[in-house]
Amino acid sequence: MTKNSKFILNDPLIDEQHSALQDSLCALQALHDRHLSDEKVVDCLTRISHQLHQHFLSEEALMARVGVPADELAIHKNEHFRILEEMADLHYSIMRGHLSWVADVQHKISNWVSEHLRLFDAPIAPYINKANRD
Ligand SMILES: [Fe+2]
Ligand SMILES: [Fe+2]
Repeated sequence: MTKNSKFILNDPLIDEQHSALQDSLCALQALHDRHLSDEKVVDCLTRISHQLHQHFLSEEALMARVGVPADELAIHKNEHFRILEEMADLHYSIMRGHLSWVADVQHKISNWVSEHLRLFDAPIAPYINKANRD
């Protein structure tokens, strides 16, 4: 994921959260050659976890508001939960010393996020656009 790959869903809060998350992933990428115990890295990973939690709650509320069908919403929520679990596993691996360098984790997190945007968030756009028109 690069800073230029703008991803717009036409909801101000969600677009701002996606953009802030992208900024944090770029900041993490810039620290690629640092050790995971580096204070800046710990701050960055903590910020990303916090952003993901907040963003998923906002996005799930938005999906309910714009009329995403219950079964689609449930699948999407499940995917958010899976990403949070992957993040928790990653933190656990870091704590146990199984991973050492930013490059070990940056790619994983960026992939989870960019795949999620493409496969799960992009399909919400029509619901948001319809709600914006109504
Ligand atoms: Fe999502
Ligand atoms: Fe999202």
